Amino acid sequence: MPVTVVVGAQWGDEGKAKVIDLLAAEHTHVVRYQGGHNAGHTVVVGSERYALQLIPSGVLYPHIIPVIGNGVVVDLPTLFKEIDTLQSRDIDCSRLLVSSQCHLIFPWHQSLDSLYEQGRGDDRIGTTLKGIGPAYADKARRIGVRAGDVLDPAAFANTVKVQAVAHNSEITALGGDALDVDAVVAQFSELGARLAPYVRDTVEMLHESLDRDDALLLEGAQATFLDLDHGTYPFVTSSNPTAGGACVGTGIGPRYLTRIVGITKAYCTRVGSGPFPTELLDELGDKLVEIGHEYGTVTGRRRRCGWLDLVMLRKAVRINSFTELALTKLDVLDTFDEIKVCTEYDATGKPIYAVLPGWLTDISAVNSLDGLPERAKALVDLVEKEVGVPIRIVGTGAERHSYVVWQ
Ligand code: GDP
Ligand code: IMO
Ligand code: MG
Repeated sequence: MPVTVVVGAQWGDEGKAKVIDLLAAEHTHVVRYQGGHNAGHTVVVGSERYALQLIPSGVLYPHIIPVIGNGVVVDLPTLFKEIDTLQSRDIDCSRLLVSSQCHLIFPWHQSLDSLYEQGRGDDRIGTTLKGIGPAYADKARRIGVRAGDVLDPAAFANTVKVQAVAHNSEITALGGDALDVDAVVAQFSELGARLAPYVRDTVEMLHESLDRDDALLLEGAQATFLDLDHGTYPFVTSSNPTAGGACVGTGIGPRYLTRIVGITKAYCTRVGSGPFPTELLDELGDKLVEIGHEYGTVTGRRRRCGWLDLVMLRKAVRINSFTELALTKLDVLDTFDEIKVCTEYDATGKPIYAVLPGWLTDISAVNSLDGLPERAKALVDLVEKEVGVPIRIVGTGAERHSYVVWQ
């Protein structure tokens, strides 16, 4: 049975969750494979809006088994807050499974994230301050604490204590406030006990599902150009959102990945610092922010906006082996007289643009190809031709049903 992967093709917030929600209808499991609660994944169903950070975006369907794969770093207070909020809205989270190999985020990771950012001054990355980088750093240093460790409560409490003391030394050396060790141990002993029933060997479990011909959907967080290896380093996240990361972060080998869906907006956004060749620093950028509601779900920060960059998209196609693309938020361009698309860079690295006339029509209610204005179709055609990958879905609004099947 083929495995589908959904990957952000830009700098995040491309509308991955909406596409995952759409595709989840034809899958059995949705598996997060990296990142943590730095992600903000929004699904809109009718008048209900769900903003998910850790729980896989398929959770809204009763038939889906949501899985937090081994590559994810898990913040337990956020996980349980999210579960409680969803349950209070009648979304059942009892099927959730968490890999025993997931690394846990602790309050010291959050303190260090802030202290490292302060230390960088003007060179700060603009992280979400969720402790993601320091948690992955501890994983790489081989001192991390994993979800499976909660199954031995006494040993877990002892490890948390030892780690809290060790990290306090670094926090105070950097001028931060030491954490109350006993309070953290008490808090995490309670959270660990609550986590225990969700913990599984998900690698084994996912392979049993593959043997049964279940249809797995692997959910990327962040995006290609925030990838620790392939992104705009050092202005990146600390995991591998690219398609290869889906194998590592779930334990599913590459030969199973057959459908690799890249998600790109019809324009570009980025939160935090770092290069952005097609960024608009004028009123057109402000217009994209306002019409596209480009404010971060997790941090509320204004997203930087600019034109679609096909040079980067072509690079994303190569790195991820995209078999198809979804082009989202086309409706945000409805009122633009002129739409630019960067097709190449000049010798100095400056974007060169194709300029297309706007369609100046509200397409937010359109959900058939016939209903799309010719000028809107011309933009989609241009992207497909320039990038050489079929576009399957075009987003025309935030709601679950607001899309056009392109082919
Ligand atoms: P993700 O992180 O990639 O899942 O994306 P986010 O949820 O952070 O941000 C995408 C935003 O755009 C969310 O508010 C979605 O509800 C919204 N959205 C997704 N697709 C479309 C679309 O085609 N049109 C419009 N107008 N909004 C969309
Ligand atoms: P989703 O899954 C957009 C950005 C941060 C910062 C950089 C590093 O919703 O697309 P981190 O806290 O991960 O160490 O921050 O990465 N970032 C995101 N930007 N969407 C996200 O997730 C992001 N997750 C992290 O703004 O620039
Ligand atoms: Mg997001």
